[in-house]
Amino acid sequence: MKFKLQNNLYWICFLILLVLSCHVTSTLSKERAVLKDVFKNYFLIGAALNQFQFTGRDTLATTIVKEQFNSISPENVLKWMSIHPQPDSYNFKGADSYVEFGQKNNMFIVGHTLIWHSQVPRWVFQDDEGNAVDRETLLNRMHDHIQTVVGRYKGKIHGWDVVNEALNEDGTLRQTQWMKTIGEDYIEKAFQFAHEADPDAELYYNDYSLANAPKRNGAIKLIKNLQSKGIYISGVGLQGHYKMDWPSTSQLDSSIKAFAQLGIKVMITELDIDVLPQATFNMGADVSLSVEAKEKLNPFKNELPDSVQQLLAERYTGLFNVFVNNSKTVSRVTLWGVTDGNSWLNNWPVRGRTNYPLLFDRNGNEKPAYNAVINIVEKQNN
Ligand code: GLA
Repeated sequence: MKFKLQNNLYWICFLILLVLSCHVTSTLSKERAVLKDVFKNYFLIGAALNQFQFTGRDTLATTIVKEQFNSISPENVLKWMSIHPQPDSYNFKGADSYVEFGQKNNMFIVGHTLIWHSQVPRWVFQDDEGNAVDRETLLNRMHDHIQTVVGRYKGKIHGWDVVNEALNEDGTLRQTQWMKTIGEDYIEKAFQFAHEADPDAELYYNDYSLANAPKRNGAIKLIKNLQSKGIYISGVGLQGHYKMDWPSTSQLDSSIKAFAQLGIKVMITELDIDVLPQATFNMGADVSLSVEAKEKLNPFKNELPDSVQQLLAERYTGLFNVFVNNSKTVSRVTLWGVTDGNSWLNNWPVRGRTNYPLLFDRNGNEKPAYNAVINIVEKQNN
């Protein structure tokens, strides 16, 4: 009898221990939830990296990237100015190590960007005397550049932002030097050259403010034009440089749905949320914009008040709800930067401010906004 009781006690203790250890393991694994796992059935989750991050010198950010993200975009190393600074010389050093980092970590590697009006050297559009080159010359230069860069990373870079920011806010084509010298078919040519250089790579049109109806309609027209000519395009990138109150979630939702109708993928390619006071009426992300620094434009120099932190978390929740609900169309969400400390929004459009636009704070800690977006999926699964 005594033996039996003892035996039962052993079993009861064993069961209690088992239940406890399962509980601890599941709590621990919940604590360890990382973005790329949480969103794996929805979309890829990416970050834009600078040189210090993909070479591992910024150990804080590099650790976060490896742990949390399954896609990367380069902040600068693939832009024309960095990779092709002189007519006859390419500089592949930075881009090679960017690609190597992505390959080592099994990531979806994005190429950003081939044809843009910014961060492109002047020589591209000029002859030796400084006069504007003709259409044929510029087309040849474009072809050479795309063939060389896309060709070098064929099969390694999985998707390219072929043309960046070709539209004005009203949806008309921007009068860039590409447009002035070649004409509006420069966009078609860029996509054709990129497809020729790597037929398996995804090819995107990428721009900001695409949640605004006039610009969205301009992008739809541009994409339909390519499609009607049988030119390959696989997706559109909505940059996603957002404000706390713009765009509304319904605006964003209807834009994603409008692009989905074209049968292409939609990506949020440069997500960040500006929490600082509006420095201009301009809602876009024009990199050439610069506004004089004023004390009142930089109210959170030392820290972000809890109340704003909370509002930021709610804002991220609103946006990620839209992405998750449209996950059949949205194939990737990329944040423009890793921690708040290295975001371009600390210096744009006003230099030297302290901004808080991302999911990780300056010390690499997860912010309330991080937990908020993770909770969206956890709630759906419960
Ligand atoms: C635009 C470009 C990016 C980057 C950001 C600002 O959105 O597409 O490459 O320059 O501006 O950092």
